[in-house]
Amino acid sequence: MHIRLRRLVATVIAVAGTSLAAGITSAQDLNFGKSTWLTQANCAECHGWMGDGVQEDPRAPRGANLRETTLTAEQLSEVILCGRPGTDMPAFDPRAYTDARCYGMTRAQIGDLAPPLAQQQLTKRHADGLAAFILSEFKDKGPPTRALCQALLGATADRCKAHR
Ligand code: HEC
Repeated sequence: MHIRLRRLVATVIAVAGTSLAAGITSAQDLNFGKSTWLTQANCAECHGWMGDGVQEDPRAPRGANLRETTLTAEQLSEVILCGRPGTDMPAFDPRAYTDARCYGMTRAQIGDLAPPLAQQQLTKRHADGLAAFILSEFKDKGPPTRALCQALLGATADRCKAHR
């Protein structure tokens, strides 16, 4: 009985340790994704700082509303690295379509549907971070409000005056 109890306690500690480690990793992903969104990639040009698909640059194509995305983390990450064929969503992996890494297709196979290559280069780590950030900050959070905008961009951000 005592031995079984000890084993049980050991198992509980091991499981708790694993989920604690997973929690720390995803918090790191999230912070990395947030800083990538804010400082390292030009996603906002087309998607808007609040991800609602209202582009910051009026000359840029209108991006998808990421607040209403139905994609999983893995799918988000893939779209970021590979772009979306046949649309203006660029591929941020500089090696996209050089081999089968993107949707199993090379540039020769995808032909005219190849999305543009982004000027910036992002790694899988960036893309996974952005996916975690989109799921936690944007998805199902409703339309952006001034409070949400200030929480992301800072209380003094002029950009947030556009929101109520
Ligand atoms: C040049 C404009 C442009 C830039 C820059 C851009 N996107 Fe996009 N993005 C688009 C467009 C347009 C679509 C919609 C494609 C379509 O019609 O399905 C899109 C779609 C997406 C989708 C798919 C959403 C869904 O639910 O289907 C994700 C995710 C995404 N973008 C994330 C990003 C991220 C993250 C960045 C920055 C690293 C970024 N985009 C940069 C234009 C852009």
